[in-house]
Amino acid sequence: MERGTRELAFAKLNLTLDVGEKRPDGYHNMEMVMQSVSLCDVVDITLTGDKALKVMSTDPNLPIGYHNLAGKAAVAFLDYVNETELGVEVYITKNIPDRAGMAGGSADAAAVIRGLDALLDTHLTLEELSHIGALVGSDVPFCLVGGTALAEGRGELLTELPPMPDCGILIVKPDFSVSTPALFAALDGCRVTERPDTGAALDALSSGDLKALAGSMANVFEEALPEAERRIIVDIKSALLSAGACGACMTGTGSAVFGVFPTLDDAKEADLSRFGLTFAVSPVKKFA
Ligand code: C5P
Repeated sequence: MERGTRELAFAKLNLTLDVGEKRPDGYHNMEMVMQSVSLCDVVDITLTGDKALKVMSTDPNLPIGYHNLAGKAAVAFLDYVNETELGVEVYITKNIPDRAGMAGGSADAAAVIRGLDALLDTHLTLEELSHIGALVGSDVPFCLVGGTALAEGRGELLTELPPMPDCGILIVKPDFSVSTPALFAALDGCRVTERPDTGAALDALSSGDLKALAGSMANVFEEALPEAERRIIVDIKSALLSAGACGACMTGTGSAVFGVFPTLDDAKEADLSRFGLTFAVSPVKKFA
């Protein structure tokens, strides 16, 4: 008998992103203020009895099956709960741009973990779900809870923060992508001159001060980009600020850039479509 459920997979933005030293396990220590936003994929998860894993999506360019993070998440979850006879079908209606620094794949993986926990009535604790998520990718634990959080360690150590003040956010996804491991390697060889003031961002969240928060946003990966790509990011940030954003920043390892506006209408009115795909979104509060 087939049973299914539908989960929403919200995109994330990095309001701040700082990278520390490389660790013996090859990962870097991170310090990031993470924020969920209303742009989301729709993830349909169905349990089948035939032991097979199927992952499909509306985007023909995405990997299918185990090579998709959603497939890895399904296998990791079924292994953890010792349900190795079951099959899972995942169908992803993709809205979050791929290779944008918005954790689209990690959000889908988190949706599969949440969905399987519900379908199988396993009621795992958040710690157990996060443990499974961290096996799949560093951003998956955040995508399980969402909202506003400080992420440290590989990105999996989370501290809940006061919610981002109401605002509108315009995301711009230029037409190039950056390899995450390559950008970490470039950053290791680059002298960073501008780091985010994470303390200032935390203070701004505590006092609900949107302008101070927007002013504290920064991402060390911007300096590590190849020159041509870096110029595009700088141009988009300037255009966002000229269009009325109180702050602008690249998210993750890019290539999406976002600007924070006082209201959603302000974000919708800013026309930056000449730079690529655009999405006007709102912050989303914690969902687990
Ligand atoms: O954990 P995830 O699979 O998302 O990481 C992708 C790659 O990004 C890693 O293989 C590693 O090269 C790099 N990474 C890192 N430090 C982190 C997270 C990711 O070096 N904290």
